[in-house]
Formats: sequence, C-alpha cells, structure tokens
Amino acid sequence: MVVVTGGTGYIGSHTVVELINNGYEVVILDNLSNSHLDVLDSIEEITSKRPTFFQVDVDDRNQLNTVFAELGTSVEAIIHFAAKKAVGESVQEPLMYYRNNVGSLVNILEQTQKHGISKFVFSSSCTVYGQPDVCPVTESTQRKEAESPYGNTKTICEDIIRDCCKVQELTAISLRYFNPIGAHSSGKIGELPVGTPNNLVPYVTQTAAGIRESLTIHGNDYPTLDGTCVRDYIHVVDLAKAHLQALKRLEGSLPKSKYEVYNIGTGDGKSVLQVVDAFIAATGINVPYKIGQRRGGDITEIFADTTLANQALNWKAELSLEDALSSSWNWEKNYRSRKG
Ligand code: NAD
Ligand code: UFG
Repeated sequence: MVVVTGGTGYIGSHTVVELINNGYEVVILDNLSNSHLDVLDSIEEITSKRPTFFQVDVDDRNQLNTVFAELGTSVEAIIHFAAKKAVGESVQEPLMYYRNNVGSLVNILEQTQKHGISKFVFSSSCTVYGQPDVCPVTESTQRKEAESPYGNTKTICEDIIRDCCKVQELTAISLRYFNPIGAHSSGKIGELPVGTPNNLVPYVTQTAAGIRESLTIHGNDYPTLDGTCVRDYIHVVDLAKAHLQALKRLEGSLPKSKYEVYNIGTGDGKSVLQVVDAFIAATGINVPYKIGQRRGGDITEIFADTTLANQALNWKAELSLEDALSSSWNWEKNYRSRKG
C-alpha cells in the first residue's frame, strides 16, 4: 500500500492514476484545502478503482496518529505531495507556509519512524536552485538562497529528509520538479487553479477560453532569445511516471538509509513567447497578449540536465510541449462544459 499525501491535488491525482494503473493500492490523505472531493470520481472513471481517502490535515499530528494507527503496518511507501504552493502568497504569509509545508513533513516523517516505513518520495522543486549561474542545472549545481519562503520550505524539507535518512531506516528520493503543465489525456483530471491563475499555462487556456481578456507577459527585456523568461515545461503525466520510477528504485537495490535527489524536467528551455506560439500552433486558438512589467521574484532562465534521472531512474520525459498544451486546452474545455 502506498500513502499519497496531497493525492487529490494536481500532480498527486495524476500520480495516483499511474500508481493504480500499475497495480498499487493507494490511500490518499488530503485536507482538500486546494482540491475537490470529486477528483476521486474522476480517478475512478479513469482507472475503474477508487482509492481509499482520508480527509486529514497532515499538519495535525493527532489526526495523522489516528490514520496511521488504522493503516498499521500495511504502508510500504509514502509519496508526500501535500503542501501549499503559491509563491506570492508565501511572501505575504511566511509563517503559514513554514507551518504547513515544514510542519507536515516533520509529522509525516514521524510516522515513517513510528511505523517502520522505509520508502519515501518527496515533491521538491527547481526553486531550490534560485537563479542559477549556468543552465542546464544538474543535481550538483549549488542550491542558492531561495527567492521566496515557499522555495525555502523545499530547501529546508530536503535537508530534513537527508538528516533523517542518516539515522533512520529510511531511504528517500526528492524529485525536483521543473514547471509541470498539461493534463491527463482523458480530460477528466487537470490543474484547477483557485481564482485568477498565477501560472502561465492556466492563464493561457483561460484567455483562449475567453474567461480572461488577454495574457500579460511579465517582461520582454530579459537577456534571453526573445527577451521573455525561459523555463523547462514538463508534462504532468511524464512527471507522474517519474514517481513510479522513484518508487521502483526504492523497492530495488538501493542501499538502506540512502537519500537521493533528481531533476525532473525535459532538458529543454522554452521562453514565454515560445509557449504562447506553441499553444496557438497546437490548438489553432488565438491568445491575445500584451507585454507588461517584470514580475517580482521571477528568475530569468532555468532548465534541467536530466541525465541522472534518465540513467538511475530509467525515466525520460516522452511527451512534447505541444502534447502538454493540447491536453491543457482539452481539460479546460471539458471542465467548462461540465460546469455549464
Ligand atoms: P496542489 O495544490 O494541486 O496539490 C497539493 C494538495 O495538497 C492539495 O490537494 C491540497 O489540498 C493538499 N494539502 C495542502 N496542505 C495540506 C495539509 N496540511 N494536509 C493535507 N493536505 C494538504 O499542488 P500540486 O501542483 O499538485 O503540487 C504538489 C506538490 O508539488 C507540492 O508539494 C508542490 O509544492 C510541489 N511542486 C509543485 C509545482 C507546480 O508548479 N505545480 C512545482 C514544483 C513542486
Ligand atoms: N508568466 C507570464 N504571464 C502570466 C503568468 C506567467 O508572463 O500570466 C511568465 C512568468 O513571468 C514566468 C513564466 O511565465 O516567466 C512561468 O511562470 P509560472 O508562474 O508559470 O511558473 P514559475 O516558474 O514562476 O513557477 C512555477 C510554480 C512554482 C514552482 C516553479 C518550479 O508556480 O510553484 O514553477 O517548479 F516552484
């Protein structure tokens, strides 16, 4: 049995689908602070299996004690997604982020210790690299001071896991995600931002759907190929599959108490304008845009060297940027038509 915290969220739900499709029994723990219960219906429609669900706050030790006492020794591994993830909000409310993201990790690691759970996968982020001096970044590129409290929670959490692996029967992998986009090919699960989207692709799809008047591109005076920022956009289904490979590695011959980190991206950097053009080419739908001011805290350019994940996890991103953008558009249309 695999416990997936944050399993009704965006990346969690796609990973749960891959886990179930590969024969794993899944238990989701989520407080639904940023997701909806009907995601369970969608997972069931896609996989014909409904994961067990506990509505719990991972930040609450007592609730976790109760749930893990019930699950007992049948938990083989934990994939820990549950966290708050809005960078801007974290600047305004740092304590909420440190409490939720760091507190939840400490609580869940406590359960690994109590119940002898030895396999752990953690959702980290390329934010731990800050603004790198050189791209692509490898796992040994120095982590720089994070640009936000959110980013800092990922750095701190990575270090906590490393320290626990030194003294516990715990073998863990942190996956440093680059920019996840896209949706499941069924169009039944995808990213559902609350309120006005902060991220590029949901803003693009909502503009294409006519919900937003136009996209604002945050600055075109960066030292990049066309002046807009460059990121490594990874299809969420490829990202979900990386978790399966990480689990397989933990189940395999990895020495006990080992801690590893992997970059999970495509290795290909794309500018904001390239993403907009690719969306228009993939869908045939126009996206009106204007150029605005730079957004505070944005880094100029980052993309991954994924050699380590390719080799050690036997994983490689397979889906293209166009696949990801078409699937995001498909999800947006499906969601709007269901909502009426
Ligand atoms: P999401 O908000 O869609 O999913 C997170 C889930 O965790 C939500 O369902 C939320 O309800 C739940 N949650 C939050 N705090 C909780 C708590 N205390 N107890 C129980 N449940 C709680 O976000 P996502 O995009 O799926 O991100 C998943 C993980 O990946 C997060 O750790 C995030 O920081 C990390 N990550 C995301 C991105 C990205 O761009 N989406 C990039 C890098 C890393
Ligand atoms: N952008 C726009 N207009 C928008 C939204 C975004 O021009 O309306 C630009 C941003 O300025 C940036 C690029 O699009 O240059 C990508 O921005 P996103 O907000 O989509 O992504 P970020 O790289 O800022 O951050 C995301 C997540 C973080 C995560 C990080 C790395 O929001 O939580 O990827 O994984 F940590």
